[in-house]
Amino acid sequence: MRKKIVAANWKMNMTQAESARFVESLLVDLGDILDVEVVIIPPFTAIARVTESLGKAQNIKVGAQNMHWERNGAFTGEISSALLRDLFVRYVVLGHSERRSLFGETDEMVNLKVRAAHEAALRPIVCVGETLEQREKGKVEKVLSTQLRGSLADLGEKELLETVIAYEPVWAIGTGKVATAAQAQEAHAFIRGTLSKISDETTADKIRIQYGGSVKPDNARELMSQADIDGALVGGASLDPRSFAQIVKAAQKEE
Ligand code: PGA
Repeated sequence: MRKKIVAANWKMNMTQAESARFVESLLVDLGDILDVEVVIIPPFTAIARVTESLGKAQNIKVGAQNMHWERNGAFTGEISSALLRDLFVRYVVLGHSERRSLFGETDEMVNLKVRAAHEAALRPIVCVGETLEQREKGKVEKVLSTQLRGSLADLGEKELLETVIAYEPVWAIGTGKVATAAQAQEAHAFIRGTLSKISDETTADKIRIQYGGSVKPDNARELMSQADIDGALVGGASLDPRSFAQIVKAAQKEE
């Protein structure tokens, strides 16, 4: 069984004080949740504060939104895996569509980052997803397959098992236009099929695939109850601790 993973991608939001207040509130709601893996992904500037605010809470982990593939050196403005490890970061989002479209990240660059993350024992959350134009032209499978094969090139089985995939249709990010549960499940099943070609079926069965794109408390349960949807990567709705907590609870098994 794949343990569900729900992550809060704060993007370029949240000061240190706001982050501390968020964690305080979240711990009240989720302090004892153990059957869902929860990850908070603040901007770099609030990572240390989030970790400090989490204190001894073992069930909530901290992630970063990006990193460079080199370990250190003359790369002004960049952050490396070693610097993230120094802040006790466990996960790192790589290849988010905003990085791809606004900052020119290619699958080759994402692959360098994914391999560097594994070398540092950070777990990458690798984002893939099609634009509206690509969907309308019937290219969803081609786009997903190219992004997956490019971003995950040269990974061994152990590394693949420690990689999380996030399917985020670009047209659903921040737009309020969520994919229907059926559309999302179809894409997730295709992604799992591609993963089994990249590795094998047993490995692909164990890899977690999150859905992202306008996930809200009122659509989260239906999405995450689909066979191949193993959690959510949440942007807008993760800025409010109450709504994020509701989404995490929607990932719990029904009693
Ligand atoms: P959204 O963002 O939930 O605001 O659509 C999701 C994401 O970009 O990870």
